[in-house]
Amino acid sequence: MPTPNARYRALPPFPLSGMAAKRREIEAAGVDVIDLGAGDAPLDPPPTVVEKLREVAGVNRYSRYAFQSGLADFREAIAHFMDVRFGVSVDPWKEVLPLIGSKDGLAHLPFAYIEPGDAAIIPDPGYQAYLGSVTLAGGEPHLVALRPEHDFLIPLDGVPATVVDRSRILYLNYPNNPTAAVAPDDYLREAIGFCSEHDIILAHDNAYSEFGFDGYRPRSILEFEGARDVALEFHSLSKTYNMTGWRLGWAVGNADMIGALTKVKTFMDTGQYMGIQAAGVAALESWAAWVPGNIAIFERRRDAASAALSQAGFDVTVPKSTMYLWVPVPGGEPSEVFAARALDQEGVIVLPGGALGAGGEGFFRIALTVDPDRLTEAVGRLGRVAR
Ligand SMILES: Cc1ncc(COP(=O)(O)O)c(C=O)c1O
Repeated sequence: MPTPNARYRALPPFPLSGMAAKRREIEAAGVDVIDLGAGDAPLDPPPTVVEKLREVAGVNRYSRYAFQSGLADFREAIAHFMDVRFGVSVDPWKEVLPLIGSKDGLAHLPFAYIEPGDAAIIPDPGYQAYLGSVTLAGGEPHLVALRPEHDFLIPLDGVPATVVDRSRILYLNYPNNPTAAVAPDDYLREAIGFCSEHDIILAHDNAYSEFGFDGYRPRSILEFEGARDVALEFHSLSKTYNMTGWRLGWAVGNADMIGALTKVKTFMDTGQYMGIQAAGVAALESWAAWVPGNIAIFERRRDAASAALSQAGFDVTVPKSTMYLWVPVPGGEPSEVFAARALDQEGVIVLPGGALGAGGEGFFRIALTVDPDRLTEAVGRLGRVAR
């Protein structure tokens, strides 16, 4: 039996891969499990999106290979959205690339830019695709802890010069999963300057771009001067439209980087089904009428969970964005122990911060995947676990 290669062997275990089995075991024992683990709320996509997919499922030309060019209408709809939502004008053919979910683009980017021995600067905790793909591409992930004393930002001036010199990609993700932090404009400007000075790609993961509470509106990195020289931004329909399983997103930004990512993907996949891309057009067209109502659902959930957390004695920061709450584990208990006790004793699944990287230790993540009443119930149970 051949042994997997050294790059594969360097991959860490994927967080929570054992959780599903544990959940089944506990449910079989009759426990009412509340799952606040994965960021996948079981809400419906916009009705017009479902309708569109039904309508086009029998259209022959959509059943052909999409290739990387994909459905022209989807590219046009993306460019229109970038303009209306962020005031950013992009060429739909040269500066946009449809993706099979944003993970597709985030994970394929290193294969165009990383040489063996190159580094990539990666937030810790962070979305696992950054670390995994850099590792598989033969690069060296340089993890930087996201800590409260730095407002969960990567302190760019703290990255050692020897790492900066070897770095080809800086992954940033604001609004952030899992910490729910947002980045001030000045920080985004600083990141663009840093990348431009050191010839580093700024891979800006904007999967939560439409999540803004209390009037907060996340921005596109491309709104800032100089970004188009250094940045690729990754967008997703998954969370905004409750379409995680549909696998649709896009990359937008620097034309050369779009070209390189396109070429890598040409050798790896043949594009998303064009019926789904047509449904993606319907999603983007429903943005003004439908998205604010969906985000309001998460805002009410955030309010309920935050109130319940403070009442239960947790130290809670009320986030301006995302579908998560990032909560310090009480009493200095290791996060994995707290999360395991939450499931064993009270049937509540939360994500232990340490499972997402050592930088996440000391915290646990609640995903706002259930209604306010269920969240209040779940947090009440977590309060008992903490006591
Ligand atoms: C920060 C972040 N980036 C990217 C993704 C991937 O989203 P998609 O479903 O578009 O691949 C997720 C999904 O959880 C995420 O949290």
